[in-house]
Amino acid sequence: MKILITGNMGYVGPSVVNQLRASYPDATLVGFDIGYFGNCITSPEVLPECRVDLQYFGDMRQFSQEVLSGVDAVVHLAGISNDPIGNKFEEVTLDINHRASINLAKKAREAGVKSFIFASSCSMYGTAEDSARAEKSPLNPLTAYAKSKVFTEKDLEPLADKKFVVTCLRFSTACGWSDRLRLDLVLNDFVAGAVASGRITILSDGTPWRPLINVKDMARAIDWAITRDACNGEFLAVNVGSDEWNYQVKDLAEAVARVIPGVSVSINKDAQPDKRSYRVNFDLFKKVAPSYQPRVDLIASIKELKEGLEAMGFKDGEFRNSKYMRLKILTQLQEKGLLNEKLQWIKAHSCPK
Ligand SMILES: NC(=O)c1ccc[n+]([C@@H]2O[C@H](COP(=O)([O-])OP(=O)(O)OC[C@H]3O[C@@H](n4cnc5c(N)ncnc54)[C@H](O)[C@@H]3O)[C@@H](O)[C@H]2O)c1
Repeated sequence: MKILITGNMGYVGPSVVNQLRASYPDATLVGFDIGYFGNCITSPEVLPECRVDLQYFGDMRQFSQEVLSGVDAVVHLAGISNDPIGNKFEEVTLDINHRASINLAKKAREAGVKSFIFASSCSMYGTAEDSARAEKSPLNPLTAYAKSKVFTEKDLEPLADKKFVVTCLRFSTACGWSDRLRLDLVLNDFVAGAVASGRITILSDGTPWRPLINVKDMARAIDWAITRDACNGEFLAVNVGSDEWNYQVKDLAEAVARVIPGVSVSINKDAQPDKRSYRVNFDLFKKVAPSYQPRVDLIASIKELKEGLEAMGFKDGEFRNSKYMRLKILTQLQEKGLLNEKLQWIKAHSCPK
């Protein structure tokens, strides 16, 4: 078994590598990443990339077929990974997330890859407060990021067949500890605020709904998808998360305050209403992957984040401006002249004078 994991040097990637290493001890794991967040390590002992057998550095937009030689399964995580980046770099987001993903899938199909897993997102449901959205519910992508996921799923569908099984995992919002932690995710942000300054500041009025999932459970869903039964469809788009994990943002803050005593929670009453509010139905995932249902619960996720941050000696009350925010890093790399307007490395500029 040879598995290519694109975007392995991000937040979700290290958990996926750990999971696949455990499930397929003899497999050859190959990573491919542009390395935007290479320096944003939060578990300093071992570089997470040491756990893959081969690491490529490259841009999905110039993907070379030779990377796919002998590959059985592709786990495609690489991409612009949130709304704020997508809003600032709209065209680049569509280029990387949509066009480059379809190019990769076509090349993978040609190369004889059997299983293609795409990291999609429940954010494509947009506003959905009235009832929980299932896979066949209307989509309402409100941002370039969400649209890029919709376009990619749509163009992946006709590529799927018996020999090329495609699974789009529509993930809930991720949370939990990672060797490359992100703090621009709602639960991670709340725990970071609580640990650093004893304060949680909710940026919205607290009412938006968000389904959540721990990164370890995302990795388990990917593990399932790699060898899933094609009788559930050669192309399958499935919501990944659990019904119990549909939360309102203010409930998440209150849960953090219960686990970490003495924390104050403030709600921004003047905030513009957050249109991205959705509840999601996970019946299909329960049906097709009964043994791979999420296991890590909210309290366990809060505790692992708290312990990880404390072990780092995390005290940065200004973390919303720190290297744990994906948009911040990309903007800084651009300001330093290391990335151009298309978020491509300006290689000559990164060499010391
Ligand atoms: N984190 C979440 O809440 C969540 C939820 C749903 C779906 N997803 C999807 O899961 C995937 C992984 O998310 P994450 O949280 O690890 O994001 P991340 O930003 O931490 O990681 C993305 C990785 O992709 C790489 N990358 C970006 N553009 C690239 C390019 N042109 N060529 C090669 N590599 C490139 C980055 O360097 C980074 O290492 C993304 O596709 C994201 O949309 C994430």
